[in-house]
Amino acid sequence: MPNRVVLGAQWGDEGKGKVIDVLAGDADLVARFAGGANAGHTVKIDGRTIALHLLPVGVLSERAQSLLGNGVVIDPSALCAEIDEVRHRGFETKGRLWISASAHLVLPHHRLIEAHGESSAGCTKIGTTNRGIGPAYADKAARRGVRTGDLVSVERLRRAVQNSVGFWDGISNGLLAQNGLTVDGMVNELLGYRERIIPMLVDASRMIDDADRRGATILFEGAQGALLDIDFGTYPFVTSSTTTIGGVMSGLGVSPRVIDQVVGVVKAYTTRVGLGPFPTEQEGTVADRLQERGHEFGATTGRKRRCGWLDLPALKYAVRISGISHVAITKLDVLDELAEIPVCVAYDDGGKQSDDVPIDITRLDSVKPVYRSLPGWQTPTAGCTDYDDLPSNARSYLKYICESLGVEMLIVSTGPGREETICLDRAGAAV
Ligand code: GDP
Ligand code: IMO
Ligand code: MG
Repeated sequence: MPNRVVLGAQWGDEGKGKVIDVLAGDADLVARFAGGANAGHTVKIDGRTIALHLLPVGVLSERAQSLLGNGVVIDPSALCAEIDEVRHRGFETKGRLWISASAHLVLPHHRLIEAHGESSAGCTKIGTTNRGIGPAYADKAARRGVRTGDLVSVERLRRAVQNSVGFWDGISNGLLAQNGLTVDGMVNELLGYRERIIPMLVDASRMIDDADRRGATILFEGAQGALLDIDFGTYPFVTSSTTTIGGVMSGLGVSPRVIDQVVGVVKAYTTRVGLGPFPTEQEGTVADRLQERGHEFGATTGRKRRCGWLDLPALKYAVRISGISHVAITKLDVLDELAEIPVCVAYDDGGKQSDDVPIDITRLDSVKPVYRSLPGWQTPTAGCTDYDDLPSNARSYLKYICESLGVEMLIVSTGPGREETICLDRAGAAV
């Protein structure tokens, strides 16, 4: 089987969790390369819904090993709570979950600083997930972060924590101390995680290389989406990591030669949580219908997701940046009732039309979408597992997306359940 990368192609919540769960059935190793507990990857297996935030979706697979790379930021309390939660639900991670020894830790003061920034009048509010992601990556880039590997030595750990806490307390007039966050307290808390975390530490790069040399099938698990990428997203309304293809290499220490296929996950419409531009966003009944039929609530924060139509220029941009060769189109069933489905084919920017994202991506907040309306199918597709059983207008909608993007269709998802899936490579359907 090919080594696949699965990436979100929009603003996150495209259904990556579901798609990764389906593809993990063929994988020996599932490796996550970016983000942290800000993600919410929902999987439905045998009628049971499980939302993972930090752990790779591979932990739910019967055969795969799972790995968190150096590009992931790890909140030890969230990690241990999630391991306990999945174990409680019947999925054992012992001997199956591994963590890079150079992944950075998200600590309580990161969450405090983030909350402070989000509520300060002088700072741009991003609408983050409040998981401490931004400050943890800021510490990493500023070379004052605490890494999983620091847990192996008390002195090393104390020095690293002192570096970060000392810096933030210094520039915030003692905000950390005022909130009871001290170096001693934090070191003591971290020492409590040593027994659980140290046995999981590995060299992620070597683990992947070894797996590849053995001929194992590797699935690279993305989080968030292309338009939330720190460099290529709608900055500053983005997350703090590389969510696009480069993140696989830098977040795991893997050679691009290991990657055979790049799968972009595309929701059949668009959603976004948090603040920032969203050209095809709808309001009123259209948005309410998509929101209700798609159950569009954030899996991490419970916030209502903003909803709108499919945005082809934004998707083309995601395809270009990451070299997406295949797509998994999800939530087709959510559009079942519609008579007409508008799709944005270009942006009008002050009278000039373009089917690409503006050079200055901040202009996405002022461009006007140019829509083409495609006929709906008004027939249930929920649960459909055979491409040929889809109504012809649904097939036309899917083909139109793939042809516009110049990609192949790998998966069509027709419901949240593992089995509510059309796998085109397996069915061998003529598309
Ligand atoms: P992720 O962050 O990309 O993994 O996506 P989320 O899990 O945050 O959000 C996707 C939501 O849609 C989850 O609640 C899934 O259970 C659900 N879902 C995934 N695929 C489908 C589908 O094809 N149809 C429907 N109706 N729901 C889906
Ligand atoms: P998954 O993996 C959707 C958004 C937040 C906010 C911005 C920055 O489930 O697709 P952060 O906490 O990362 O600093 O927040 O990014 N965001 C997501 N939106 N899905 C996600 O992950 C997201 N992770 C972060 O809402 O706008
Ligand atoms: Mg999500």
